[in-house]
Amino acid sequence: MMSSSYVSLVPFLLLLLTALMMAAVSESRRSFQEILLQSGGVAATDGTQWAVLVAGSSGYYNYRHQADVCHAYQILKENGLKDENIIVFMYDDIAENEENPTKGIIINKPNGPDVYHGVPKDYTGDETTAANLYAVLLGNKTALSGGSGKVLNSGPNDHVFFYYTDHGSTGLVCMPVGDYIYANDLMNVLKQMEKAKKYMNMVIYIESCESGSMLQGLLPKDMGIYATTASNANESSWGYYCPDDPSAKYDTCLGDLYSIAWMEDSDAHNLGTETLRDQYLTVKKRTNLSHVMQYGNMALSEAFLSTYMGQSPKKVSSVPLDELSPSNSLAVPQRDADLIFFQRQVQKAPKGSVESAEAQKTLDEQMARRSHADRSINQIVNHLFGDSNAASILTAVRPEEQPVVDDWDCLKTFVRTYEQYCGRLSEYGMQYTRAMANMCNAGVDKDRMVAASIQACSGKA
Ligand SMILES: *[C@@H]1O[C@H](CO)[C@@H](O)[C@H](O)[C@H]1NC(C)=O
Ligand SMILES: *[C@@H]1O[C@H](CO)[C@@H](O)[C@H](O)[C@H]1NC(C)=O
Ligand SMILES: *[C@@H]1O[C@H](CO)[C@@H](O)[C@H](O)[C@H]1NC(C)=O
Repeated sequence: MMSSSYVSLVPFLLLLLTALMMAAVSESRRSFQEILLQSGGVAATDGTQWAVLVAGSSGYYNYRHQADVCHAYQILKENGLKDENIIVFMYDDIAENEENPTKGIIINKPNGPDVYHGVPKDYTGDETTAANLYAVLLGNKTALSGGSGKVLNSGPNDHVFFYYTDHGSTGLVCMPVGDYIYANDLMNVLKQMEKAKKYMNMVIYIESCESGSMLQGLLPKDMGIYATTASNANESSWGYYCPDDPSAKYDTCLGDLYSIAWMEDSDAHNLGTETLRDQYLTVKKRTNLSHVMQYGNMALSEAFLSTYMGQSPKKVSSVPLDELSPSNSLAVPQRDADLIFFQRQVQKAPKGSVESAEAQKTLDEQMARRSHADRSINQIVNHLFGDSNAASILTAVRPEEQPVVDDWDCLKTFVRTYEQYCGRLSEYGMQYTRAMANMCNAGVDKDRMVAASIQACSGKA
């Protein structure tokens, strides 16, 4: 080559240049595509927009999570996503619940519109399991158990939006039925999806307590995924629009702070001119009781919301968020929102009535379950670490670049062991998975955890 004349060098240089450009393009394929999309200012891509929406709870006192998911569906539907591309997990025990003052209707804010109509009932009741969710994400119909059979049939040109809302804790989030979703299992599914080219890019929004722990130290920056969470890895997320005076129509919180923040923002704006990053900043500002976090591939946050959520041709409004909703609505930590409901049941019942006694009994049982969890975990930790070191095991948090636990099988084993001897971790007791993660990180082995659990709970579960 060195001896080639100038003229014969030209094709070679062109080839080299082309090769270099192709390498550059393929390396930054994702962000490049996004930029193209933006400069065109168009909503749709060549591919299809898919969404998976998951409410992880059941029970009227958890009304808000299913309300959030219904609302999310309405946003996507209004902006042009097709029902065949929106997959919904909700237990579906709210609309017709005997406690619901407006049967057949679910709202997501006081005096808000019905968000229940039209919501596809893909996975409801006993079908709302982690296993079915993984099958849906992987597009694996044979792995499904029940349900509509709808799965992510997406390909390499498609965009996927995944929204989850419910209770969670260090390293996991709940499903209404069966096993928890552990962060490492979700991450493995996302990696398998990437391998199977099930998306060009994906956006994940997660609301739960310690939701940052689902992605912290786990979601690589070079995958085609951008995510935000309601809270960092060590704090609560918040129920919102909770009943704040005795005359309130609904005895339960109607939404969650981070969730209503992104959805009311999406409701109010043209999704074709607002970027994911704009929305993150707006949501972060409004969600002032926890730290809204970002994870994954930040370049993707420059894309317009319409890339994932569609775009309604008629939408032009631009209402400042502050004007949208009552300014001082009651917010309650996720894990205490159930007590509001149970307390209101007691207050509402006529004094001395059978209902009053029953409501009081339910509230007492809830409180007793909380004390049992507090006591059990404290005894386990004291048994293993001694009184003086126990506090740090209960409260230690890892730096923001690290996953909350190194040995995920250990965390799963400890949760299972605890539940075997001390009873199911309730939504309240789930907060103690942080202690379990810290015990794993401190090198406690299974035998010692079993012994400590028996010692703390044997015969008391
Ligand atoms: C789908 O799930 C079934 C049942 O769990 C499993 O045997 C199969 O290998 C899965 N298929 C793919 C492509 O992962
Ligand atoms: C959060 O924002 C709300 C609404 O703007 C405000 O009423 C409340 O005082 C704020 N709370 C905190 C802790 O800053
Ligand atoms: C834990 O959460 C608090 C806020 O609740 C935050 O200030 C702190 O930086 C967090 N620590 C870590 C290590 O994430």
